[in-house]
Amino acid sequence: MTKRVLITGINGLLGQNIVQEFQSDHEIFGLDLNPSIFGESSPVQVKQMDLNDEKALRDYINLKRPAAIIHTAAYTNVDRAEDDQDIAFAVNAQVPKSLASICLESDIPLVHISTDYVFNGEAGPYSENDQCHARGKYAESKLAGETAVLESGAKSVVIRPNVMYGNGKQLTSSFVEWLLNELRNERSVRIVDDQYNNPTYARRLASVIRVVLDQKAWGVWHFGSKEVVSRYTFALKIADTFGLSSALINAISTGDLNQRAPRPMRSGLICEKLKKELNIPILSIDEELALLKEEMDAS
Ligand SMILES: NC(=O)c1ccc[n+]([C@@H]2O[C@H](COP(=O)([O-])OP(=O)(O)OC[C@H]3O[C@@H](n4cnc5c(N)ncnc54)[C@H](OP(=O)(O)O)[C@@H]3O)[C@@H](O)[C@H]2O)c1
Repeated sequence: MTKRVLITGINGLLGQNIVQEFQSDHEIFGLDLNPSIFGESSPVQVKQMDLNDEKALRDYINLKRPAAIIHTAAYTNVDRAEDDQDIAFAVNAQVPKSLASICLESDIPLVHISTDYVFNGEAGPYSENDQCHARGKYAESKLAGETAVLESGAKSVVIRPNVMYGNGKQLTSSFVEWLLNELRNERSVRIVDDQYNNPTYARRLASVIRVVLDQKAWGVWHFGSKEVVSRYTFALKIADTFGLSSALINAISTGDLNQRAPRPMRSGLICEKLKKELNIPILSIDEELALLKEEMDAS
């Protein structure tokens, strides 16, 4: 029998990539604040729901009885979360807590997507065992969410990506898409050269999620690319992969942006555990960008 999987935030960047990964051999159900982006003829069944409606969420899960739940939905606007902290905590902390409790009651495995923001970003790259120390409301709310999942007693996986990028439709904020659009239209861009991390390619993260679920590899996992680079270097690599001139990419510092929330300056995620324990290859940024280009050319 085909397994059922429930994906929250299914219209988002990661949600769409998980659909790509699972659709050939799973029956896919999704929840999102907004109407389905998958089209009427798609077998992907999306219900519009605010996940903060705990009763609706519990009723839906009890009705569909999925074999696993992959929770990608989140309040992701890092700066706005400083003012909208009640909403950020409701979505990023309370929803995972409720989901974990429903999963525990019904013995459903839960994959929860967290972030490198659970660390203070002063001394990365970080391993799964490093001490968490969130700075800013988005970060604090995400840390509260993953803590609730891990302490719930449910069969759970917490995966932390950093600076996620990938292919998708109708995405509200995609760094790669924005950069390609600016460069193709010959507009100059300013990119910070003092924030370091190892970006996560969403399509491969989706395949990592499949492996951890198949292997019942409960616990915390980090996933990103092989090397830690500045955002500016990442932008140069994107331009190079897509055959665009990097002359329009200008380096600036984080201070020039006057952003509301603190940013992790020295972040990045050590991915040795995935490599050693689950045999997942960790690829270079150039290799993953080449895969993204292939994916975009084919879509
Ligand atoms: N993107 C990154 O760079 C990055 C880095 C590290 C970790 N992460 C984590 O990775 C996960 C996936 O990120 P993503 O980039 O795929 O996010 P995304 O593209 O913003 O997708 C999230 C989806 O969830 C929906 N959603 C938000 N609040 C909801 C609610 N209360 N009820 C139902 N649906 C709701 C969003 O709708 P709206 O669009 O209307 O809000 C959106 O469709 C998140 O947990 C995020 O914290 C992301």
